[in-house]
Order: sequence, then structure tokens, then C-alpha cells
Amino acid sequence: MTDREFVKVARAEEIPEGRGKTVELDGFRIAVWKVGERYVAIQDACPHMGASLAEGWLARDRIVCRWHNRSFDVNTGHGDARSGLCARVFAVRVEGGDVLVERPAEPPAQPHPHDDGWIVWDPDRHWKRRTPDADD
Ligand code: FES
Repeated sequence: MTDREFVKVARAEEIPEGRGKTVELDGFRIAVWKVGERYVAIQDACPHMGASLAEGWLARDRIVCRWHNRSFDVNTGHGDARSGLCARVFAVRVEGGDVLVERPAEPPAQPHPHDDGWIVWDPDRHWKRRTPDADD
């Protein structure tokens, strides 16, 4: 059993409904959004070319990047079918008006912290989806 450690990154009132805020956790930038009644956290650097996802916009349960309109599911980080990119998401809690984000067991690497083997860095300097498995 592993202990899950959550770290305060903001006060809830600092993150209005439907808006993103860039916070830092161990030097890693994370975009925290209020989506309806809950808060979600996703890596701030867009896996396409690094724009801030906190400065994008919300479309239902997807964050849309303001640079090239690629979108990422706030629950899974999965990108749209157009690019096959994936962003890392983090668990969030709210306690006493504080927004806390789970500290990853392994520190994320900058600038594109993917540790699940789902995507790979290609020579064109873009994250691309690994050869799809049958269940992808
Ligand atoms: S930098 Fe985000 S879609 Fe291109």
C-alpha cells in the first residue's frame, strides 16, 4: 500500500468556475481548473508545443489549447483523435477551502511528463502515440 500525499497549491476562491490557474508542485507547472463543482489538474505545458493549458478554454470536459486547438480530457488527459497526444492528469482534493494536488510517486520530468508509456517522443520533437494496442 502506498501513501498518497496531497499538497496545497491554491485557495479554491482563486480558481473561478470554468477558468484555469497555473500552479507549481515541486517545480512542475500544473493547470488547475474548476469544472462544475469539482477541481481537476492537468500538466500545464501542452504536449503539442508547450502552450499553457491554464490559458486555454473549457469545452464540456475537455481543455482546449489556445495555440492550435488540440483538446485534452480533464479526467484522463487523453488528447483528441487528431493528434493522439496525451497530457498527464493529477488527483485533486479540496479541504477547508484549500485545493490540494497529489504529489506523484515519481517526480514528473519536464517538459513532457509521461510515465505510462502511452506516448513517445519522436524525432520531429512532438509527442506521438505509441503504436496502438488492440484495446486503444
Ligand atoms: S501547443 Fe497546444 S495545441 Fe499546439
